[in-house]
Amino acid sequence: MSETVDFKAVLEQTKELYGNLIQAVDFNDPYLRYSLVWVAFNPIFWNIVARLEYNTHFLTKVTGSAKAGCYTLAVIIFTLGLGRDHMFNLALKNQETSPFLQVDLLQKIGYAAITLGQILVLSSMYQLGVTGTYLGDYFGILMKDRVTSFPFNVSNNPMYQGSTLSFLGISLIKAKPAGLAVTLAVQLMYDIALQFEEPFTTKIYANRDSVENQKKNL
Ligand SMILES: *[C@@H]1O[C@H](CO)[C@@H](O)[C@H](O)[C@H]1NC(C)=O
Repeated sequence: MSETVDFKAVLEQTKELYGNLIQAVDFNDPYLRYSLVWVAFNPIFWNIVARLEYNTHFLTKVTGSAKAGCYTLAVIIFTLGLGRDHMFNLALKNQETSPFLQVDLLQKIGYAAITLGQILVLSSMYQLGVTGTYLGDYFGILMKDRVTSFPFNVSNNPMYQGSTLSFLGISLIKAKPAGLAVTLAVQLMYDIALQFEEPFTTKIYANRDSVENQKKNL
């Protein structure tokens, strides 16, 4: 066991790998740009619409009920998600395939990431239902209790983490460095979205709990 690791060589190789991957991305391709814009647009859109709904109840008024409003928003968000995924796939077609990613291990990691991602997304939807998944709390449709069973016992945000893992998996399977760039953008946007969504959700539930406690004390 006298193996020594040449850190300098490893560092050089890592730098070379990153350099190669970044060079393989054609950031001038319009489809890649549309894809990045779409990735950024979706969470911005649903946060603005949801806050507007919370403050004005405009969707509830237009559709006639909170539930109908939330389902309408759900359909819109779901459709925007399909559009984003479609644009992502179109963008990847124009992009270079990297031999550095066409490695057996990375392919296996890609399939594992997609599988895990889909499990997280679907089980989270199953646990939360439509209104729980699609911002029902902004419509005043609250869950009775915080869900703590799977997948919420392994992930705080299974929906977002599952979605990011799916982007990662597809990028690896297709061996597209551009896909990894979009995956990073997806991760970044969800991180930003959570900065707005988590405190808001906490506030809404805290308000409900304090109202319920006041009722109990009457
Ligand atoms: C999460 O819950 C699932 C089933 O409900 C269980 O099988 C799993 O071991 C739990 N994981 C952790 C980390 O607690």
